[in-house]
Amino acid sequence: MSADASMKWFRVASTRDIPEREGRRVEYGPHIAALFNLGTEYLAVENQCPHKSGPLADGIVAGKNVFCPLHNWKINLQNGCALSGGTGQVKTFPVKVSGSEIYLAFESAAYQACDLSAQAQESQTSNPVEG
Ligand code: FES
Repeated sequence: MSADASMKWFRVASTRDIPEREGRRVEYGPHIAALFNLGTEYLAVENQCPHKSGPLADGIVAGKNVFCPLHNWKINLQNGCALSGGTGQVKTFPVKVSGSEIYLAFESAAYQACDLSAQAQESQTSNPVEG
């Protein structure tokens, strides 16, 4: 049995619900996530910034990252790691697209490994808003 088949999937949106390069807050029962359309893929993370719980779904998408709308921390959407602003991380959720429907495996949320060298480079080249 593949990991995909063993996961419990919840339909959270249609592809038409999320414009390209934007995020949306999605939920199913008690589960909440920030789901992003990057054009070539959909990625999902916890919708609470690791800084002060800002709503990441409302942030500005840049590449495979989102800038938190509250104090501009930059969060990588592939691994959930803060790349600039401060140190922290959110969990990521497996995402599956079937036809025009998007599914999340909320119960398989996990912390991913952070690339600390990438974070160091970002913090040297970024100029985040203090907060
Ligand atoms: S709450 Fe996200 S940067 Fe402060």
